[in-house]
Amino acid sequence: MPSFTRRDVLRSGLVLSASTLVPGSVQRANALLAHYADVPSAEASSAVAPRERLLLDFGWKFMFGNGDDPRRDLGFGMGQGDFSKSGDFDFATAKLDDSKWRSLNLPHDWAVELPFVWDEEQQSHGYKPLGRRYPETSVGWYRRVFDIPKEDEGRRISIEFDGAFRDALVFLNGYFIGRNDNGYAPFCFDLTDFLSYGGKNYLMVRMDASFGDGWFYEGAGIYRHLWLTKTDALHLARWENYVRSAPHTKGNAGWLDLGTIVQNEGREAETCLVRWKILDAEGKVLATVDTKPQSIAADGSATFTAGANIENPTRWSPESPYLYTAIVSIETGGKTRDAECVTFGIRSLRWDADKGFFLNGKRVELKGTCNHQDHAGVGAALPDRLQWYRLAILKEMGGNAVRTSHNMPTPEWVEACDRMGMMMMCETRMMSDNPEGMAQLEVMIKRYRNSPSIIMWSMGNEEWIMMYQPQGVRVIDRMIERTHELDPTRLCTAAVNTAFETHFPEQLDVMGYNYNLKVIDDWHKKHPAKPGVGTETASTVCTRGIYETDKTRNWVSSYDVNHTDWSEVAEDWWTFYAAREWLAGGFAWTGFDYRGEPTPYGWPSINSQFGIVDTCGFPKDNFFYYKSWWGSDPVLHLFPHWNWAGREGEPISVWVHSNLDSVELFLNGKSQGSKKVEPLKHLEWSVIYEPGVLEARGTKDGKVVMTEKRETTGDPVAIRLTSDRTEINADGDDVAVLTVEVLDKEGRAIPTAGNKISFKVSGEGALIGVGNGDPNCQESDKEPERSLFNGLAQVIVQSTRTPGTITVEAYCKPYPRPVLPAVTVTITTKKVELRPSVG
Ligand code: GAL
Repeated sequence: MPSFTRRDVLRSGLVLSASTLVPGSVQRANALLAHYADVPSAEASSAVAPRERLLLDFGWKFMFGNGDDPRRDLGFGMGQGDFSKSGDFDFATAKLDDSKWRSLNLPHDWAVELPFVWDEEQQSHGYKPLGRRYPETSVGWYRRVFDIPKEDEGRRISIEFDGAFRDALVFLNGYFIGRNDNGYAPFCFDLTDFLSYGGKNYLMVRMDASFGDGWFYEGAGIYRHLWLTKTDALHLARWENYVRSAPHTKGNAGWLDLGTIVQNEGREAETCLVRWKILDAEGKVLATVDTKPQSIAADGSATFTAGANIENPTRWSPESPYLYTAIVSIETGGKTRDAECVTFGIRSLRWDADKGFFLNGKRVELKGTCNHQDHAGVGAALPDRLQWYRLAILKEMGGNAVRTSHNMPTPEWVEACDRMGMMMMCETRMMSDNPEGMAQLEVMIKRYRNSPSIIMWSMGNEEWIMMYQPQGVRVIDRMIERTHELDPTRLCTAAVNTAFETHFPEQLDVMGYNYNLKVIDDWHKKHPAKPGVGTETASTVCTRGIYETDKTRNWVSSYDVNHTDWSEVAEDWWTFYAAREWLAGGFAWTGFDYRGEPTPYGWPSINSQFGIVDTCGFPKDNFFYYKSWWGSDPVLHLFPHWNWAGREGEPISVWVHSNLDSVELFLNGKSQGSKKVEPLKHLEWSVIYEPGVLEARGTKDGKVVMTEKRETTGDPVAIRLTSDRTEINADGDDVAVLTVEVLDKEGRAIPTAGNKISFKVSGEGALIGVGNGDPNCQESDKEPERSLFNGLAQVIVQSTRTPGTITVEAYCKPYPRPVLPAVTVTITTKKVELRPSVG
């Protein structure tokens, strides 16, 4: 089978478009999403009165600074004096005129808006001009002016970033507030002493994406949500709440360990107790527990623990993601001083060196994918709904697990996993026990330890320098020890691709194998007591809708035949893992194509081709291999398309992915033979091409139960625009995801179409991104037009906060392509309770 080396990856070729789509897949994914129409407002629910958690996403001003020239960076760093006197940063006061700055809302990723540059140093970033050599596009200033009422005096007020890329410097009312140096961990600053009460407050954030954290596209700017939190001076410490379930796999009891830390930032000692209320998914109170009161000195803190029992608990699983809620509150003399909601699930986890992984006492194979965090059109700044959209596609494929490679995830991705039912291996970015590495690790564990979807923690990925050195064992030991202190319920792994013979992998609770199928059996034999999982596998490469590898066009055929030289095709890695009961399954690299690391080709490819689906989420053919052997529905998937004009009389390789008993293939009604399905394998015919209808008939228990056709289509006569939903929330965040196709006069989608379609969006919404999944397409993600790639393009439209309608019109510009009549889709935006926001 052809394979690609890391060197091939940097080779360049030509950009061209055209070829095939995977028919039916768009409709199937959309049908699945209908189940998840009501995405709860992420995170907002975690604050309970009197605590306020206000979204600070709306009404920002933005301007590029400069990493080289202080004169073009608001004078920042001009002389020695910037930090010499507190309160001297005039740009964070009323003195700055931002009237010419751009208005925008968060989340925002400025990298996705930049043009592509042919600079091989930038290939990891997806050829975006970021870094110290691009000072003009690597620094961004964000400014927001807001009021704080007089009555807030005495409360503690802090600003919380869910994550921002990168090197954030925060200023308020002329004062420097703090800095954060990584791109993924959330961070928070107490603003209380620097706010102006009863007046305007001038917040400035300088983001600098000159340095990177990874080797893949990371975005730039405040690409996750931002919050303003207001509490009493006596408050729950940040992310100290935990609810640990220790359900017995047999029997009915579900015991909960509860804990939190209360912080007293007032000037007097306070005596308080902590109350825990446990609610089921319907909101019924199942238990209320009060701790003993404790006195907490001014500027002190105290730990409160408790326990509660739930009879006959309903267990969380991917099939039935049942969630409970705990409301934790601080009570003093009958008054609630602070309260938060903690969502949790009850389930048991067990890793076994001989039998793999057990969830709720049942062996479960991890059918996982690794994923980065970017999407077509929007880069790293995903509206919450897109997290659900992406997860629905992976679930539709039969996936039950994701790995957050190679960093701490966005909260809404974790929330979607909790609520939709997807197990998660949650990974920290920096494998180190230096202060920064430990801080990232701790924040990840504390922030997400109540999420039932997380089944294990990953300490990092392929640290091939450290793993060979004595530092590696010391560092991993400390990281694992600290993780266990913070969370005694989960085991730790790391993704190991080398140094198998060293002591490093022996330190892990669960061995994480990256690729290297040849060493796995031997390592297991030498370490028979160590459970194992495929932390990273596959790296199969395919271009959606392409059936002939063409190195001059940077295309890799979509048959399951191409992989890098360190990896396998889908069929091979999964056959290997499925045959070993002691392995707990694995995580394919990757679920979605991602920007950057453009493999197997370099420029003009701007994204990787590892995905089982492309950057828009349109399935490649391998999607149906996984669906056949991971999912529980019957599958019959036939490819390629049947538009091979000029190839008449030549053999075409025809494949089927199916989990039925046998499949018979017909061309224009003539049988091409029937084949028996072998477990975990595809079927293959060689068919002499003639235009017409290729049909597969799938049989189960002697009966034809499914058929699928590929027809030779004609010229385009119409555009089809389909929205995943016709009603979305008028909350300024929700999105509709529209699929664009062109049809022939029979109404059939043309799988090879490359027409450029333009869009006009009017009413209560805006276009926030377009894409087509073409790894070589350098059209803008933000302009209202896009060429179809192998018959498909995607448009993402976001609501405003005013209820009404959004009209999306798709049309073809007259020259030089044929005119196709314009089509329109109308989306209603419905009034919803808005998440509390900073005015
Ligand atoms: C792995 C690495 C991933 C990605 C992948 C490509 O070694 O962990 O981040 O680079 O290779 O095959």
